[in-house]
Amino acid sequence: MTRRDFIQSTSTAYASMMAWGLLKPAPAEAFALPPNGTQDGKARKVIILGAGLAGLATAYELGKLGYDCTLLEARSRSGGRVWTVRGGTKETELGGTGQTCRFEDGLYFNGGAARIPHHHQLTMHYCRELGVPLEIFNGANEAAWLYNDGGTGPLANKRMRIKEYHNDMRGYTSELLAKAFDQSALDQQLTKEDVEKLVDFLKNEGDLNTAKLYKGTNRRGYKIEPGAGPVAGELTDPYGLTDLLHSGFMQPVFYNVGEYTYEQQATLLQPVGGMDAIPKAFEKKLTGKILFNAPVKELRKTETGVRVVYTQNGKPAEITGEFCVCTLPLPVLKNLESDLSGTVKRAADFVPYMKTGKIGLQFKRRFWEEEEGIYGGISRTNMDINQIWYPSFGFMGKKGVLIGYYNFYSRAEAVANLPISGREKLALEQGGKIHPQYTQAFDNSFSLAWHKIPYNEGGWALYDDAIRRKYYAALTEPDGNIYFAGEHTTYLTAWMAGALTSARRTVEAIHARAGQYTKK
Ligand code: ALA
Repeated sequence: MTRRDFIQSTSTAYASMMAWGLLKPAPAEAFALPPNGTQDGKARKVIILGAGLAGLATAYELGKLGYDCTLLEARSRSGGRVWTVRGGTKETELGGTGQTCRFEDGLYFNGGAARIPHHHQLTMHYCRELGVPLEIFNGANEAAWLYNDGGTGPLANKRMRIKEYHNDMRGYTSELLAKAFDQSALDQQLTKEDVEKLVDFLKNEGDLNTAKLYKGTNRRGYKIEPGAGPVAGELTDPYGLTDLLHSGFMQPVFYNVGEYTYEQQATLLQPVGGMDAIPKAFEKKLTGKILFNAPVKELRKTETGVRVVYTQNGKPAEITGEFCVCTLPLPVLKNLESDLSGTVKRAADFVPYMKTGKIGLQFKRRFWEEEEGIYGGISRTNMDINQIWYPSFGFMGKKGVLIGYYNFYSRAEAVANLPISGREKLALEQGGKIHPQYTQAFDNSFSLAWHKIPYNEGGWALYDDAIRRKYYAALTEPDGNIYFAGEHTTYLTAWMAGALTSARRTVEAIHARAGQYTKK
C-alpha cells in the first residue's frame, strides 16, 4: 500500500496526513525564530516598560532568543489588567480611598481579564507551554435572569429566566415566518421545495406544533418538573408576544448574547484559581528580570538606543539599552516625558479608552446555586449594574463571590464616581431586585473602576474606523528604537490574545532589525 493509497482509503484523511507529517498542525505554535540575540558575543539589551501580558510575553520570547531583557513594572505585582482580587488585595484609585479585600480564603474574582475564548489560540498556546491548568468558564447560562427596570408592560420590573425569553421569541418569530410562507408571501424568492424545508427548520427552531403554531415548549422549563409522580410534569405557559415586545428586552444592553457573539461562544475557559495564574507562570520564567515598584518617568532616544529614567522604591534611577518595548497603556503614555514622535504622542492623546468597572460581592451562602440552580453564567439588566456574573468555580461551597456589576461607558462612569460604600450600596440595591436574598446573605465587597486605577487609567483602547485610520499604524511601527506592544496596538483590543499577538509582532520586528532573521 502506498502512502497515497493509505491516506485515501481512510475516512480520517486529515488526521492521517497530520500523522504522516504532511500537514502542519494548527497555527500559534511555539515561536520558531533562529536564536541569536547577541552582538559581538554580548546579549543585546532590551528594556521593556510594563510587566503586563504584552511585556511578559515579549521578555519571555526575546529571552529564548538570547536577548537580555529588563522589565520595569510600576506595581509590586505583574499582570497589569490580568488581576485577580482575593483576600488581602489592596488598591487605591486615583483620587479615591484605599480598599483592602476581605474575601475568605479560596474566594476571588478576576477584576480584569476574566474569560478565554476557545479560538484564542495564542492564549491557549501559552497556557499549554507554561503549564497553566484551565477549567470551563460558563458564559452563557439559560437559567440566569433578565430584568428590565423602569418599564411599563406586564413583564417590566420582574425577573425572567433567559430560557423563557429566548424560547418564546424563537417560537413566535418562527410561527410568524411559517405563516408568511403559508400565505405565499415569499413565493418569488423560494421554490415550493425550499419553502417546505424552511418550514421544517422553523418548526424545529421555534418548537412549533403540527399546526405550525407556538404554544409554549418544554425548552423554557416546567412549573412541575417531571419525576417519579403520576403525571409527566407540567409545562410553564409562554408569555404573550405583545408583552414580550414591550418587555424592554430588545434594548441593546440585553443583546450581548453569549451564543451569538463570536468572542463569547462556548467553549470559554479560565485558569484554575484565578486569571493571574498566567502572569505568574510567565514570571517564573523571568526570574530577576522584573524590577517591581519601578514606575517610568522619562523615555529618551539616544545615539545608540534608548535611556529610561524611573524610580525604584521612590529613588531615582536610569537604565540604557539598544531597544525599548513600551507597553504602557495610552492614557499613561500620554503623561510620560518622552522623545516620542508627534504621531505617537497624538495617538496617546486621542485614542479613547473604555470606562469599565466591576464589584466582587461575597455572600454567606451561594443562594444562586442553592435556590435558583445557577452555576456560572451572566444575568443582564438595564440598571447601572448591567451584568451579574456567577462564579464558574467552587460550586456548592459554603460562601461565594459573584461579580455584582460589570458595566461600561456612562454607567461605569456614574458608578465609579460614587464612594466605595456608595458603589456597594448601589450593587446591593439594584442586584437585590433580581436576587431578594442579597440583603440577608451579604458579607463584604471590593470594587474597581479601571479608568481610575493608577498605571492603567482605562479598560481598553476603543477604536472606531476614523481613530483606527489616524493613529493605529503609528503604534505598530517602531519610533526610532522604541517599539510598542499591548492590546491597544492590535485589532484584538480588550483581550489577552491581543497583548500576546502584539508581543510576537514586536519580537519578530526586533529580531529582524537586529539582523538575526529575515521577515517573510
Ligand atoms: N474582553 C473583555 C470581556 O471579556 C472585554 O469582557
